[in-house]
Amino acid sequence: MKNIIIAPSFLSANFADLKSEIKRCEEAKIEWIHYDVMDYDFVPNLTFGSKILKDIANSSNFKIDIHFMVKVKTQSFEDFFTDYIKCNPAMMTMHIESMSTDESNKFYELCKQNNIEFSLAVSPKTEVKVLDTWLDKLDNILIMSVEPGFGGQSFIPEVLTKVEYLVEKRKNNHYKFMIEIDGGINGETSKQALKAGVEMMVAGSYLFESDNFTKKVETLKHG
Ligand code: DX5
Ligand code: ZN
Repeated sequence: MKNIIIAPSFLSANFADLKSEIKRCEEAKIEWIHYDVMDYDFVPNLTFGSKILKDIANSSNFKIDIHFMVKVKTQSFEDFFTDYIKCNPAMMTMHIESMSTDESNKFYELCKQNNIEFSLAVSPKTEVKVLDTWLDKLDNILIMSVEPGFGGQSFIPEVLTKVEYLVEKRKNNHYKFMIEIDGGINGETSKQALKAGVEMMVAGSYLFESDNFTKKVETLKHG
């Protein structure tokens, strides 16, 4: 049986009590956490910068999965990522829709130079085929199952055909990428996502708004 990764999205955590939220993740034997960076431009919401991540990273041993929902505006594309890279993330994800081809190449190089897993995301309305030229280089693909921007939205089941497409492509070409799904994951939708073939599931409101975090993590993993 393959190992399913559950990555709690800190977007739904209680920011006034992050220590307890970290503890809940540790007690549930969480290995990866998901950190959503939004800029009020690429998406209609604003979240956090690198400082909160630095504090979380210094207070825990999680592998960090940074999901950037941003259009980079710094003069040098790479500069935007400097402080995030200092937090030692295991993986960084950018949306293919938010970058030019030149920026996508720069993002790939930046990840490789810093030994960070290279990941690209697609929003629900984006065809998964736009990733075809990247499939041999990707360590991970994030399939958005809600419109990016907010926690607590309903799962869009139609995106599962993208997961099935990637599973097939990977099998036929021996690609190495993992498949991650993000948005609207709960005890029911997780079953559909697992059946389609994902290896990593992000869950925000389902976990952090629960008073039995550990049990919900188990439900996501095993149905
Ligand atoms: C939405 C974010 C998600 C969000 C998921 O744009 O990318 O990571 O936190 O939240 P839930 O699990 O509540 O849909
Ligand atoms: Zn996310």
